[in-house]
Amino acid sequence: MEGAGVRLHRAFGYSEIPLFDPFLMLDDFRANRPEDYLAGFPWHPHRGIETVTYLLEGRVEHGDSMGHSGNVTAGGVQWMTAGSGIIHQEMPKPVNGSMGGFQLWVNLPKKNKMMDPRYQELGADEIPRVAPKEGVTIIVISGTIAGITGPVQDIIAEPEFFDITLGPDLAFSHTVRSGYGAAAYVIGGTGSFDRHLNEEVGDRTMLLFGEAGTSVEVHAGHEGVRFLYFSGKPLREPIAWGGPIVMNTKDELRQAFAEYRDGTFLRKTG
Ligand code: FE2
Repeated sequence: MEGAGVRLHRAFGYSEIPLFDPFLMLDDFRANRPEDYLAGFPWHPHRGIETVTYLLEGRVEHGDSMGHSGNVTAGGVQWMTAGSGIIHQEMPKPVNGSMGGFQLWVNLPKKNKMMDPRYQELGADEIPRVAPKEGVTIIVISGTIAGITGPVQDIIAEPEFFDITLGPDLAFSHTVRSGYGAAAYVIGGTGSFDRHLNEEVGDRTMLLFGEAGTSVEVHAGHEGVRFLYFSGKPLREPIAWGGPIVMNTKDELRQAFAEYRDGTFLRKTG
């Protein structure tokens, strides 16, 4: 349970540090019952990280201390750099009875933790799809694949973030950039991955790949498979994580919470 009482599935998080570096957490908030998400995530602070909201269905109404407000819509993405600090709320709402999506947290390195907050927010129609071969569809949110570069750019972790669908029994491979970490999260169908090519996994399976120039191999099962693929440059820095704030030291964390209590948390408000 997170926020004001949102029931979600955490694919990885605090207990996996530092395996997914530079990624900190992936929450899957696909839900069928409105009572599992309508309480939402009322006003809360963030500092030292970026949060990436990728929505499949419904909408997430949001507002923040920068005076920014709007909706993340189905198929859209919001890449929010909290940097020195932002206070916001995120409220999932159904559209035609459905709501579901994901939130990925990306850590910021020490030298960027106190950068100015910023947003990159895109609708489904602004995010390119590429079909490198028949039956393979890749939604390119960030990074470059099959000659297409995603619209989310200039992110510190130099991430790749793709939503990949393979038709029945199709194979796919992608090279992990040398020195980067890579992971995949299955969101539909079944498939087999990498060294476990004789083991089929399905929805909500989290996979972590080895580093350094290796290639990720995926074989879709008879119904095809859909997965989120993400990779980024590991920071290899100490992590002090307190709820929505992630710094390098416990002192920085204490200071952030003290500032939040005193009303001096925000460095930039618009
Ligand atoms: Fe948040």
